[in-house]
Amino acid sequence: MIKSAPTNIEINKLIADRWSPRSFDSSRHLTKEQITQLLESARWAPSSMNEQPWRFLVFNRIDTNNHFQEVFDCLSEGNQAWCKNVNTFILVVALTKYSNGDFNASAQFDTGLATGNLLIQAVSMGLATHPMGGYDKQKVKEILGLSDDLVQLAIIAVGYQAEAELLDNPALVKREKAPRVRKDLDELMIKI
Ligand SMILES: Cc1cc2nc3c(=O)[nH]c(=O)nc-3n(C[C@H](O)[C@H](O)[C@H](O)COP(=O)(O)O)c2cc1C
Repeated sequence: MIKSAPTNIEINKLIADRWSPRSFDSSRHLTKEQITQLLESARWAPSSMNEQPWRFLVFNRIDTNNHFQEVFDCLSEGNQAWCKNVNTFILVVALTKYSNGDFNASAQFDTGLATGNLLIQAVSMGLATHPMGGYDKQKVKEILGLSDDLVQLAIIAVGYQAEAELLDNPALVKREKAPRVRKDLDELMIKI
């Protein structure tokens, strides 16, 4: 299902086409090459002092020896409901300190930029992504042994989109088919 941004203003097609579906195809897995391409797109994002504070942790359902199921179990109930068929999660974290030890106030901004690259790269590869903040960050921190210098920003579901009807809950199917909405541009521009 395509849900391009309903706008009369011409914008880049990849940006317009990116959205956050909930229905994923459980039979299709990402290749190592695809994951590398996604991460490479993030690598070329700009960052304060070129510090590149983003870090990505990839969890694949089919790999043994990783924490896929434990990460899944940390998702909120609402997210677990539609994530059942997701085969790859990417946990996005930012290093909060510059390499010289100073606090990096731009780390989260920079990591958001890198993640934006990744989301758009995914569209260009025919992949679907859905970022999630709804999960137990403390639990993830403990499971993965993440250091206090890392701030967790999101878990991104990545994979191939499937038909809305495959979601086994009518409310989810309805959400999947709902139109995409945004605030008016006027509201987003502060005029002084
Ligand atoms: C940081 C972040 C956290 C999000 N957390 C969740 C979440 O926990 N569950 C969910 O279903 N969607 C989540 N979303 C997806 C947003 O709801 C979605 O991006 C927004 O409604 C706009 O829809 P679109 O991405 O389809 O354009 C999150 C998005 C971001 C960027």
